[in-house]
Amino acid sequence: MRTAVLTGAGGGLGRAITAELARRGFAVWATGRTLGRPLGSVLGRPLGSALGSPLGSALGSAEAAIEGLGPNCRAAELDVTDLSANRAVADAVVAEHGHLDLWVNNAGVLAVGYAWEVDDASNQRVLAVNAMGTINGTVAALGHMVPAGRGQVINLVSLAGIVATPGQAIYAASKHAAMAFTLSTLFDLRRGGHRGIDVCAVCPSGVRTPLIETDDPEAAASFTAPLLTPDEIGRVVGRLTERPRPVTIVPRRRAPMMRFVDLFPRLAAPAVPKIMRDARRRQQQHRQSTAGPTGRR
Ligand SMILES: NC(=O)c1ccc[n+]([C@@H]2O[C@H](COP(=O)([O-])OP(=O)(O)OC[C@H]3O[C@@H](n4cnc5c(N)ncnc54)[C@H](OP(=O)(O)O)[C@@H]3O)[C@@H](O)[C@H]2O)c1
Repeated sequence: MRTAVLTGAGGGLGRAITAELARRGFAVWATGRTLGRPLGSVLGRPLGSALGSPLGSALGSAEAAIEGLGPNCRAAELDVTDLSANRAVADAVVAEHGHLDLWVNNAGVLAVGYAWEVDDASNQRVLAVNAMGTINGTVAALGHMVPAGRGQVINLVSLAGIVATPGQAIYAASKHAAMAFTLSTLFDLRRGGHRGIDVCAVCPSGVRTPLIETDDPEAAASFTAPLLTPDEIGRVVGRLTERPRPVTIVPRRRAPMMRFVDLFPRLAAPAVPKIMRDARRRQQQHRQSTAGPTGRR
């Protein structure tokens, strides 16, 4: 049986990916920062989601992510910012199953606001989780995969790993770091002759999860397109386990525009205020469509 480790498994995407991997026959180690703790946080700012929201049922811990998935899935504690903890989980999987086939770096946090206004603690946290967490997990997994000559790492990056993102500067910086590390590691694997190991980046636009479930206008960039569902991303990750690709942009039709903005920031910059106004409208529409009968979330 193939084995998989998933980080941030209690979150919106974590749950969907855990279920998809279990459905595909993986023995999944669904890991969470602390077991038994509710989730969802936009750092340094109040989060409008949580209680009473239709997303309430999506909130939960890594333990909840494996509920009903059978005895081959288990929950484990893993704070991704701690390299030795990542290594300990990788070691434990190999000690028990004899091999580690897949590691999915999914844990992530978001901080929003004008780049110069986000507080230092939030900046540090976003880099620690999104950038160093991804690096730690990748290194820990490859510690076993390289000697074994096979395996796969899938990193949940974001469109913010490809283009600059107004209102989410530190998040985009952290995701650019995750993207660069993903592809550089892939190139190093090929340079070292390790053809049986893949490292992949998944770059979704906004997904309907607690991460972006806020009415804060500073988070509007996540609403530049209709929201995806966690299950859609779960299926993308599932397909990648069959056919690895270095970078998967979801939805694919957004790729040309993202690449254009990345290549020509001078042309893109003047359009940012209008793009953000449109995104804010979508965000408000989303909020209205998910509000309860009293308008309370
Ligand atoms: N939702 C989107 O629009 C979107 C779009 C593109 C990419 N992504 C990426 O997809 C991934 C999953 O996001 P999501 O939308 O599912 O967010 P989410 O629902 O907020 O879940 C994020 C998960 O990461 C965990 N986490 C945070 N810090 C951690 C740490 N130090 N160690 C281990 N786990 C930690 C959280 O646990 P706690 O609650 O315990 O902190 C939570 O379970 C993230 O990397 C995100 O950047 C999301």
